[in-house]
Amino acid sequence: MKLLVTGGAGFIGSAFVRLAVSEHISIVNLDKLTYAGNPENLASLASSPLYEFVKGDICDGPLVARLLERYLPDGIVHFAAESHVDRSILSPTDFFETNLRGTFTLLEAARAHKIARFVHVSTDEVYGSLEAPLEADEDFPLVTNSPYSASKAGSDLLARSYFKTYNLPVMITRASNNYGPYHFPEKLIPLMIMNALEGHALPVYGDGQQIRDWLYVEDHVRGILSVFHRGKEGEVYNIGGNRSLPNLDVVRKILDLTGKPESLIQYVSDRPGHDRRYALNSNKLTRATGWEPRMNFEEGLAKTVAWYRANSSWVDNVRSGAYRDYYARNYANR
Ligand code: NAD
Ligand code: TYD
Repeated sequence: MKLLVTGGAGFIGSAFVRLAVSEHISIVNLDKLTYAGNPENLASLASSPLYEFVKGDICDGPLVARLLERYLPDGIVHFAAESHVDRSILSPTDFFETNLRGTFTLLEAARAHKIARFVHVSTDEVYGSLEAPLEADEDFPLVTNSPYSASKAGSDLLARSYFKTYNLPVMITRASNNYGPYHFPEKLIPLMIMNALEGHALPVYGDGQQIRDWLYVEDHVRGILSVFHRGKEGEVYNIGGNRSLPNLDVVRKILDLTGKPESLIQYVSDRPGHDRRYALNSNKLTRATGWEPRMNFEEGLAKTVAWYRANSSWVDNVRSGAYRDYYARNYANR
């Protein structure tokens, strides 16, 4: 089997590529290598005959068409996206280019080339903020509050329309917050780990009582592969971690694991439009494929902290001048 993966040099895409290759699936990885894309994430596959990298943009229709003609993949698994809410607040343009126009370009190419399976990777953020004790199942309305989640919801609806209108065999997955190794240090968990390890302040937005459901990245990509193999065309599948926690609890666990004091916590002004609570019901995927999350959060967090301790050169390489500029823009006036 051969798959075209988009965004495979990012955090989740690279975990998927490593899993797929370990299961003898050939991968062609189309990735633009934005600030979030890093070939080092796939260094372990550099000499694998099952892995090929193509640098390019999913908005480039002729390039995508050439790849589908040359490689004749059995399916597409689409990860490529601008993925960070805070960046979507600071500068939304790329979110609409990549997440909407890029997804549209891929769907059009998949339709023209009669692609047999298309998995569109999305997020629980499309369901918006939920009052406790509500949990979103796949029929929950899409109520978006950030440019990021709006662009993802739009791409989900486009993908759905290609199934309804053109019978393109699309499946959509919506996962909760991921964590694990190779996570770019702009999202909550890797940012707090790095700052704690280096003794810098941990910037908690608002009161820190916002709730997220945490999913270990390897559990997520196992869920996506099970949808690729056994999901039903036209369906949406939630992939949740079954572990909801307030942000402050996560930050305190990181302080414990790194042996750093509570005094590093710094409350800063809240994120505009900040979603208070996400909660996901993934019973449908479990019923359809038997998938369940395996990693216990405390164990996964300890593994993640250990990975960042052991991979300081990976971190140094991704924290370029552009990263420092972003950090200053996002945090200087909070
Ligand atoms: P990431 O930001 O780490 O990686 C995104 C990848 O896409 C990078 O390699 C980047 O170079 C590539 N890319 C961006 N624009 C591109 C373009 N125009 N053409 C080609 N490649 C491009 O993101 P991630 O956290 O790995 O997320 C992957 C997918 O999973 C996204 O679609 C995201 O919405 C979704 N998702 C993420 C989470 C999470 O917690 N991070 C949770 C649920 C769903
Ligand atoms: P994030 O990792 O950006 O994921 P998302 O916004 O997609 O859920 O943020 C997770 C939570 O952590 C969210 O409630 C915002 C909060 N947060 C902070 O309190 N401080 C930070 O510096 C960051 C990046 C996030």
